Amino acid sequence: MKMMSWGDALWLGLTARFARVGRLRRAVLMLAAAACTAAAVLYWKQQTDDSANRPLHSMYSGIEPQWSWLCQHDRCERYQASDTTTLQSLQTCNMLCASTQLWPQPTGPVSLASAAVPVRSDRFSLKVVASPSRDVTKHLNEAFIVMQNHMRTLEHGVVGENRRSDIGPPRDVLVKVSVNGSGDPRMRLDTNESYKLALRPSGNSLVVDITAHSFCGARHGLETLLQVTWLDPYAGSLLILEAATVVDAPRFPYRGLLLDTARNFFPVSELLRTIDAMAANKLNTFHWHVSDSQSFPWKLDSAPQLAQHGAYGPGAVYTSDDVRTIVKYARIRGIRVLMEIDTPAHVGRAFGWGPEAGLGHLAHCIEAEPWSSYCGEPPCGQLNPRNPHIYDLLEHVYREIIQLTGVDDIFHLGGDEVSEQCWAKHFNDTDPMDLWMEFTRQAMHVLERANGGKAPELTLLWSSRLTRSPYLERLDPKRFGVQVWGASQWPESRAVLDAGFRSVISHVDAWYLDCGFGSWRDSSDGHCGPYRSWQQVYEHRPWATETPESAAWPVEGGAACQWTEQLGPGGLDARVWPRTAALAERLWADRAEGATADVYLRLDTQRARLVARGVRAAPLWPRWCSHNPHACL
Ligand SMILES: *[C@@H]1O[C@H](CO)[C@@H](O)[C@H](O)[C@H]1NC(C)=O
Ligand SMILES: *[C@@H]1O[C@H](CO)[C@@H](O)[C@H](O)[C@H]1NC(C)=O
Ligand SMILES: *[C@@H]1O[C@H](CO)[C@@H](O)[C@H](O)[C@H]1NC(C)=O
Repeated sequence: MKMMSWGDALWLGLTARFARVGRLRRAVLMLAAAACTAAAVLYWKQQTDDSANRPLHSMYSGIEPQWSWLCQHDRCERYQASDTTTLQSLQTCNMLCASTQLWPQPTGPVSLASAAVPVRSDRFSLKVVASPSRDVTKHLNEAFIVMQNHMRTLEHGVVGENRRSDIGPPRDVLVKVSVNGSGDPRMRLDTNESYKLALRPSGNSLVVDITAHSFCGARHGLETLLQVTWLDPYAGSLLILEAATVVDAPRFPYRGLLLDTARNFFPVSELLRTIDAMAANKLNTFHWHVSDSQSFPWKLDSAPQLAQHGAYGPGAVYTSDDVRTIVKYARIRGIRVLMEIDTPAHVGRAFGWGPEAGLGHLAHCIEAEPWSSYCGEPPCGQLNPRNPHIYDLLEHVYREIIQLTGVDDIFHLGGDEVSEQCWAKHFNDTDPMDLWMEFTRQAMHVLERANGGKAPELTLLWSSRLTRSPYLERLDPKRFGVQVWGASQWPESRAVLDAGFRSVISHVDAWYLDCGFGSWRDSSDGHCGPYRSWQQVYEHRPWATETPESAAWPVEGGAACQWTEQLGPGGLDARVWPRTAALAERLWADRAEGATADVYLRLDTQRARLVARGVRAAPLWPRWCSHNPHACL
């Protein structure tokens, strides 16, 4: 067998592959004529007696594996098991064939062995070699257990009696982690998420070195380690690549998913599963659009009246303990929870208790009809910007958000779709746009107070009439950023960037996951359409306009938006995944090419990983295509 060296890749006697920034370059050095035999890529010795290679019947409910996959022309091709001398599963073939099978594709050099060895989740151990703080060490330990638990889920039910004996004993794997940098484990705007991973054999065991500048970077390294570990159903064992080096860092610092829990309620378990799937894709921002005019499901300690009046019912409420659970779960996975209470519009009954509490009208136009005169979708409602109690209330809400989430460098004020007619009806002495501008200033002011007297580094507003000329000029780009949801071709979507506002892109024509499901109101068209396919999500690169201005655009990243007018818990996973995985790679790697065959192959594997983690991601295609990719690509 030939060998190659690359960077630190010292291992010998293996075929290796590597990918670099940009185009995936393959350097598969195969045995010349024998390349078609999978014996070249299987590490364990094949038995001469074919039947001895067959796994135990008990694993297959009486059906023996009919297929074997061989790596040919950089793809795995399916053969009748009876026609080959070697039985190799699809999973193992994919991992040892040409594509890296990593998702998102790393942005630095990658070198992967084409040999695998057996491992077991309980043979992994962690050694924190260097850590800047006790907090980071604690988080590393917890993230390691999360990784081990995912491995355990994979091997559940196969390790033990069903394990094939001819693959050799499982190796010990020592995972050594060094973090040199921030002692703060939180995902921050200035967190350096880069990491290096080096996996190599050492005697009879394996050693993994992960180095990073932050807990979040090291955690990404663990996620990549998990991706080079898989269950081989034919061997009845976890396998891991025998050697690998990965140098990696994201292209954009903000990589998010918005979930709306107001149009329809989602139990905590659904949110946790979604966050775990985000972590599998190295996304870092769970944008929780917690309330809207339809419902207010969060029972704040500082303002329980909001949920009392605004929740759908007792079974549709998040407590502050729920929020803590979600935040902790996300933090161990390198994810910030960005809670958004959208105001001054998009409020409803939750704010209807002012008069009875002696505080006057906290909001106007609540459930006003005809709704189309006072809001974008029923029911209507908009805060009363002239009621000072509103600002006291918002200060409490903002303080509680910051305390519970620990996110104090980014804040989302909402600020979406204010109805000028609603305010014009109640305040005929003032231009509603002036009221809106003044409300935004006041909200910013109480946000500073809630944040210990300091404005967050990035305070986001939704793009709106307020972020269009001539109002845009009155906002300070040092204080505000804009989440741009308008269509990518709208001039105002560009104007925000040209004016130097730090932006999170959520273009409706590419990254709105709720589009394409028709109308839910009898009186109007569908909210948006058509459906955005994963390929459209993947291929959207609005910053790549090749105009001189776009080079200077302060794009922080992007977020897919899952509004939930037409979605409930049962359908969440398949609506969000794998499309949000496609976004994750766009924002992590941002490779110029679109949905190439290699992207299909890697995303198909990533989708299978999500399914194995308990996420009911939609299939990319009939499973037959996973079995026979050359026929579908
Ligand atoms: C940590 O990083 C700093 C700057 O990047 C470097 O000067 C220092 O040598 C590093 N320390 C270790 C122990 O690697
Ligand atoms: C993160 O650290 C890497 C490795 O030291 C460095 O090359 C990179 O510039 C840093 N990235 C940021 C955003 O600071
Ligand atoms: C404004 O509203 C007040 C009270 O509702 C009313 O008396 C007045 O005529 C209105 N002014 C205009 C210009 O519509």
